[in-house]
Amino acid sequence: MSYILPDLPYARDAFGDILSAETFEYHHGKHHQTYVTKTNELIDADASLSGAALSEVIRVAHEGGQTSLFNNAAQLWNHSFYWQCLSPDVQQPSGTLKDMIDQSFGSFDAMKTALHKEAVDHFASGWAWLVLDKGSLKILSLHDADTPVAHAVQPLLTIDVWEHAHYIDYHNARPDYVRNLLDRAINWEFVAQNLDGKGVGRADQ
Ligand SMILES: [Fe+2]
Repeated sequence: MSYILPDLPYARDAFGDILSAETFEYHHGKHHQTYVTKTNELIDADASLSGAALSEVIRVAHEGGQTSLFNNAAQLWNHSFYWQCLSPDVQQPSGTLKDMIDQSFGSFDAMKTALHKEAVDHFASGWAWLVLDKGSLKILSLHDADTPVAHAVQPLLTIDVWEHAHYIDYHNARPDYVRNLLDRAINWEFVAQNLDGKGVGRADQ
């Protein structure tokens, strides 16, 4: 069994000037594809994990210190999750998610401000996350390929803060990229779905 590059859940040009078709062409078509290819090469070279779920590969590689396999498999999963966190239609949180955001952060705007700060202040490459930690909402960031799949928290939402995520459209202006995503391009319906604690499975294969 080989891992595959999941299709984008929207057209490459669906986001207009927020994220260009060229960004998706490189970020999904080249960067994400490379993580798929390298994960498959590493699995082919080590039959012990042949046929394992991607999430299992990530956990085993993390525990066993298999850095290259962990980095590529985690990036395969992280990107598969990230695409689903984006929506070309502007959405707002509602229902239980909205109530939990208000309870944890005071308001939706306060939560966006905190997540924006986490994403912008994260040094160098990584991912900013909204996670469920023992039933509570929490904002954190992880370095390089690191992923909630390898930790005891459930992923709800992520923002890719590797430079390759924003360089074509925003150059070095990471704050503008994160602001545009948070205000105009997050799939809050997907985030709400992940409150069931099954977010890992939604980007698994
Ligand atoms: Fe990326």
